[in-house]
Amino acid sequence: MTKSIHRVTVEIRQIERLSDRVRMLELADMDDWELPPFTAGAHLNVHLPSGLVRSYSLCNDPAERKFYRIAVLREDEGRGGSRQVHELRQGERLLLSLPRNHLPLAPEGRVVMVAGGIGMTPFLSMVPVLERQGRPYELHLCARDSRADAFSALLAPMIRSGKLVRHYSGTGARLDIQALIAGIGTEDHVYLCGPERMISEAQSLGAGLGERLHMERFGPAGVGAEKAYVVKLARSGGNIPVTTGQTMLDALRAAGVDIPASCEAGVCLDCRTRFLEGSPDHRDIAMPVADRTSHLTPCVSGCLGDSITLDL
Ligand code: FES
Repeated sequence: MTKSIHRVTVEIRQIERLSDRVRMLELADMDDWELPPFTAGAHLNVHLPSGLVRSYSLCNDPAERKFYRIAVLREDEGRGGSRQVHELRQGERLLLSLPRNHLPLAPEGRVVMVAGGIGMTPFLSMVPVLERQGRPYELHLCARDSRADAFSALLAPMIRSGKLVRHYSGTGARLDIQALIAGIGTEDHVYLCGPERMISEAQSLGAGLGERLHMERFGPAGVGAEKAYVVKLARSGGNIPVTTGQTMLDALRAAGVDIPASCEAGVCLDCRTRFLEGSPDHRDIAMPVADRTSHLTPCVSGCLGDSITLDL
């Protein structure tokens, strides 16, 4: 039985150290109720005790309904969310959003997954589904070296079966994305999750794959305007200047405009806002292409001209 709720309160049942910088948290209902269902590739927002909200991919088999697992890389130079997650203790309670999926598995075809470091996390929920479906797949794990590889130990059976291929750049075995894309069949789907550089390279090399190329970047946190522009509010009539280095969201907040926002990294789409005029510089990693002609994400997106008009 599942509780009918829009937010989920969980407790941290277990914390596992996967490497020096990666912790895996197992989150469960306090009374052991089943949690809301999710599909492979989904993520959710974690509301941290400080008020920060961060998005993390779900790492467990979607068929497992009694817990969620997330894996978090501690980013010492980041905005503080991952450090706070690493300070959490077993038994602490957390508020979660419901799971959402911007990286769903295609219903058929061979699946080739490429993970850059912590980008492995969405694929950990896809592998058990692909196994059950008996579909052909392969998973490429890119890391600097074995010390930076937090996930191989979890995937030992896949290493033995040859379905997991490890590429350690520190030993000169960097993944050749061009060769990988050249070997993709006409029915295959390619999934990538990793840092911006990896995704950009795959995006240009794999443009011919069209909708069979699925990507999730690490969020471009803290992206500010490269040049100043003005946000015009169509309904309330305000003109709000966005200064160089400032995000549109910060400028709106400073002017007293309340925009819902969670991840502030272009991942969750909570801040999605309709625009009426102007050319946005879309920098989110989640909005469907069809929505980009009418909506933008003010937490990370900018403006290609001197002004943009929002439906606010
Ligand atoms: S707050 Fe998450 S996409 Fe903007």
